[in-house]
Amino acid sequence: MDEEAERALQAATLRIGQTLARRAAGQRPGLFDAAGLRGRLLGRALHDEALRTRLFRFVDVLPQLPDEAAIAAHFRAYLDGFELGGLWGRALKLGNAPIGAFAVRRSVRRLAGLFLAEETPRALAASLARLARLSARVSLDAVGEAVLGEAEADAYRDRVLGLIQALAETPAADVSVKLSALTPRFDPVDPDGSAGRVWRRLAPIAEAAHVHGVALTVDMEQYALKPLIQAIFLQLARDYPQADFRVGIALQAYLKDAESDLAGFIAGARASGRPLAVRLVKGAYWDSEQAWAAQRDWPLPVFLDKAATDRQFETLTRLLMSATDAVYPMIASHNLRSQAHALALARQLGLSADAWEAQTLHGMAEPLRDALIAEGVTLRVYLPTGDLVTGIAYLIRRLLENTAGTSILRQTYVEAQPLDALLAEPVPAQPAATPTPTPTPAAFTNIPLADFSQAVQREAMAVALVQVRGELGQDYPVPGGGDWIVSTNPANSREVIGRVQAARPEQVDASVAAALAAFPHWRDTPARERAEHLRAAARLIEQDRARFAAWEVLEAGKNWREADADVAEAVDVLNYYAAGIEALDGWRPNRHDPGELNDSRYEAVGPAAIVAPWNFPLAILAGMSAATLAAGCPVLLKPASLTPVIAWHYRQVLLAAGIPAAVVQWLPGGGREIGARLVAHPDVAAVAFTGSREVGLDILAAAHARVPGQRLIKRVVCEMGGKNAIVVDEDADLDEAVAEILASAFGYQGQKCSAASRVIAVGRVHDRLVERLAAALDAYEIGPPEQPRHPLGPLIDAAAVEKALAYLEIGAREGRLAYAGRAPLAELGHYFAPAIFSDILPGHRLAREEIFAPILAVIHAADFATALTIALDSDYALTGGVFSRLPAHLELARTRFRVGNLYLNRGITGAKVAVQPFGGVALSGCGIQAGGPDYLKQFLWMRTVSENTLRHGFVP
Ligand code: FDA
Repeated sequence: MDEEAERALQAATLRIGQTLARRAAGQRPGLFDAAGLRGRLLGRALHDEALRTRLFRFVDVLPQLPDEAAIAAHFRAYLDGFELGGLWGRALKLGNAPIGAFAVRRSVRRLAGLFLAEETPRALAASLARLARLSARVSLDAVGEAVLGEAEADAYRDRVLGLIQALAETPAADVSVKLSALTPRFDPVDPDGSAGRVWRRLAPIAEAAHVHGVALTVDMEQYALKPLIQAIFLQLARDYPQADFRVGIALQAYLKDAESDLAGFIAGARASGRPLAVRLVKGAYWDSEQAWAAQRDWPLPVFLDKAATDRQFETLTRLLMSATDAVYPMIASHNLRSQAHALALARQLGLSADAWEAQTLHGMAEPLRDALIAEGVTLRVYLPTGDLVTGIAYLIRRLLENTAGTSILRQTYVEAQPLDALLAEPVPAQPAATPTPTPTPAAFTNIPLADFSQAVQREAMAVALVQVRGELGQDYPVPGGGDWIVSTNPANSREVIGRVQAARPEQVDASVAAALAAFPHWRDTPARERAEHLRAAARLIEQDRARFAAWEVLEAGKNWREADADVAEAVDVLNYYAAGIEALDGWRPNRHDPGELNDSRYEAVGPAAIVAPWNFPLAILAGMSAATLAAGCPVLLKPASLTPVIAWHYRQVLLAAGIPAAVVQWLPGGGREIGARLVAHPDVAAVAFTGSREVGLDILAAAHARVPGQRLIKRVVCEMGGKNAIVVDEDADLDEAVAEILASAFGYQGQKCSAASRVIAVGRVHDRLVERLAAALDAYEIGPPEQPRHPLGPLIDAAAVEKALAYLEIGAREGRLAYAGRAPLAELGHYFAPAIFSDILPGHRLAREEIFAPILAVIHAADFATALTIALDSDYALTGGVFSRLPAHLELARTRFRVGNLYLNRGITGAKVAVQPFGGVALSGCGIQAGGPDYLKQFLWMRTVSENTLRHGFVP
């Protein structure tokens, strides 16, 4: 657009904005209607950030609360201390009064009624009639809980079909659909499988919409789901090429890459001749996108500057309106400037009223809505339908959005900003010129997990799997070695991953001798150099990350995400302990007195035996060896016999990173022959072990038994397992709890020491929780994990299946089989169908014994305190979790739930290096938490030198 046209557009935007504002004057959106308690309370919350947070948290939990006592308790927990006034205030003062609960529920229901319509035919008809009177079009949207099971997805499909039916007679009607609600497994790691699952339910919806002449618009959700949602939408457009059946998709202007997406839509629509509708929005997940990106160390997909979003919204409006041959623009915003700009542009481009439309959400910006209609704009209201329980996530989002400081509605109706400011052209702040920080090599940061929503990352993994498959079946000899360990794919026991030659037991002595000989030099190598070797190893693994993950998929039976996470953790531990040893290096002064110097330094204890498990074949092996190597101890690697090939590759990396071979001794072989001999060897100064409790306790005994020739006492670090419990409180958010429990209990088939194996359900939450867990688990497919459609793979070997089967029998005797999965009939894979047992009592074996398999025991507890007591009644104390929305219960858990790693309102596996130092107490292990600041010190001792510097009365 040339300068003159641009100036004209800005002037027209201002003029139209003023006209719209004039028309809207005197009217306020329902939410900000100051009358009544709701207005007073929200009014106060708008100016008090603490109250706002508390109020929204309270509204969030309310639908879940079973009775008046619970409502009163939560009400007090969240809102005590705030002067609320009105009936709520009185109710608060009265304490546990039914009247309080009644008043609260009624107010919140009314609040929900501002944004949601009931889904009964009568209520729908009334809502549609109201909109028709306004001359507004409609898009209906069935809001709901997260869809976790097939039946829930069916229910969503049926609701959408019901809405289409209800709209059959309404002209130019539209239905909005959330694709993620059409399957319980909408997973970007498996786009083809996810699309197939979505299509099973989207097909009848599309068919019905097509037949009834109702348009379909696909909502946009979180960024990670965007490629998948867009791909399915484009397929919809291809499958229904009829131009009179309008299909549309939402496009979020807050995303940095929105413009290229839109360019793709326009080009595709032109190429195919199939017009598309695009609903331009700003984006509803702004806060969450930031939190998700930060937690995963992923790049931030959204703008941080509101003006940048607003400006991109205008850029995209222009792109849309200049391409009406290919796209139908739907400009969805409550922002006076954004809509005035759209209208000005439409007029400037000479677009007719049916060439585009404006959209608003029901219950928001009614004055602007009416003003736009009065200006002759085609206007559509997006009307969510559902009840308070199912609509709560939606309601909270709307409340947060409307009351945020940057919200246009707040600025217009609460802060009454001057019209000029509201209509000003959005100009993003110039980012301040920050000097590029000098990289500090010692500073540690976690590497991000792979983002499998990105096609390049999926392709890298697929390619790596093919490459690694080409390398299977090789021999990995040990000079002078003994028997061969044949490593096979747990998903196909005929597929040989590799043959690793075991060391002969006599070789242990020679290896220890060689390590001991190498010790002084390695110990005295400057810490910075040792650290550099480890960082070099980390870089090598990172460069070859997909291939390492592929080895894990094939040798350990991990799915893509689990495999990638293990590789990422290996990189992290190498970098973390490298930084750690640099921080501990050198002589440090203690107290220097006149005439006396007192200095200490840490020094390595000596050769360290590393006895590693198969379940985190890279991360734990790397963690234990990186710490000891960093400390200055030569290591004797005894890899797990079930995953020796990955271990072999790891050792190659250490050698390639310049660590002398004598410092990384290689001792593959059986635990009894090699491990036991190594642990008992008199010259082994430290043992780092992760594995079963039985072996761990044997190692502790053997390591501390005196043997001839012994001149040291071994440092032993044993990490031995858990019987981890998650307590689910009565008020828990089940959408979250169910998803996180499944990941914690069944991730990697439950073969993690941190896995959840007990769920303790409080009070009335029990039945619904078990039902939703079973339904959600039923949606998980089991099969070869190299295919990303299988979140669950095989157990590690046949013995593991045998053990798990024995626990099925025990579970059936002790409790009730609430869910039994289906394992594939593949004779060659070690598959085991996951199971959930309910009615388990705290004394049952299923509640007490560690089971390395996908078997979950559900225990009922009358109240929260009892649940904590049950959770703590265990030989183990490794991880634990609580899902609750009562602050007092979370606090109680913090103080009383003594486990190494306690997780509140989230899953209990996947501890992050440096962020969640990992390890337990009781029979879960001895030793300081791995990935934490003190872990290294277990392989160090402190030497102190005190020197008298006084010479005949002269103090230097
Ligand atoms: P306003 O001008 O106040 O903008 C608020 C928005 O700006 C926030 O929602 C956020 O996107 C952005 N923002 C706030 N602070 C920011 C900052 N510091 N830096 C950068 N950006 C910031 N959303 C969605 O994600 N998917 C969907 O499918 C839909 N569907 C939909 C349909 C209809 C008809 C409407 C009206 C809206 C949606 N939305 C949506 C919601 C939409 O994305 C948006 O949240 C609201 O419309 C609020 O934006 P406004 O332009 O109305 O207000």
